[in-house]
Amino acid sequence: MPASSGAVTVRPVRRADLEQVISLDATVTGVEKRSYWERVFRRYGQAARAEQRWFLVAVAGKEVVGFLIGEVRDWEFGSPPCGWLFAIDIEPRARQAGIGTRLLAALCEGLRAAGVRKLRTMLSSDNTLILSFFRSQGMMAAPMIPLEMDLAPAERA
Ligand SMILES: CC(C)(COP(=O)(O)OP(=O)(O)OC[C@H]1O[C@@H](n2cnc3c(N)ncnc32)[C@H](O)[C@@H]1OP(=O)(O)O)[C@@H](O)C(=O)NCCC(=O)NCCS
Repeated sequence: MPASSGAVTVRPVRRADLEQVISLDATVTGVEKRSYWERVFRRYGQAARAEQRWFLVAVAGKEVVGFLIGEVRDWEFGSPPCGWLFAIDIEPRARQAGIGTRLLAALCEGLRAAGVRKLRTMLSSDNTLILSFFRSQGMMAAPMIPLEMDLAPAERA
């Protein structure tokens, strides 16, 4: 597998990568979300540097073997500007070869260059794989509590 041979490049996503990103996401989550990914690409894949958004891919040869999406959010939840990581996926055959670590390191480098000193993320409480990964990267429980509630469907006129 090229991923473990070190022949993996981490770079910003390109339009031509999108089909493979959609297919990798569908493999990992079991749901294909084409229109969602088109929107994500417009918002993050074509962002100017000053917008502080990152949509990175890890590529082995011509194969997209992983991706990561993150951005700087200013003053949300009362917090000074901080980095948020909201998607990371590695192709199952290319895992445990350091690719997730490299993608995260690339995001952290961009955040540091932007003057950001904190990275946050959110994960499902039963996803022990991603929890192990984030813990291995030095992430700890944050002093925040996620809340949610159900909303009744809108009434039709
Ligand atoms: C979590 C994930 C990103 C890790 O990517 P990866 O390229 O395999 O990670 P790395 O090879 O860089 O591993 C770094 C560390 O993470 C931890 N880790 C990775 N895979 C692990 C596993 N299967 N079990 C336990 N710990 C693991 C280890 O501590 C590892 O360090 P080590 O190799 O020295 O033991 C990848 O497994 C993945 O995409 N999983 C699905 C992600 C997901 O659920 N996404 C949806 C929410 S955004």
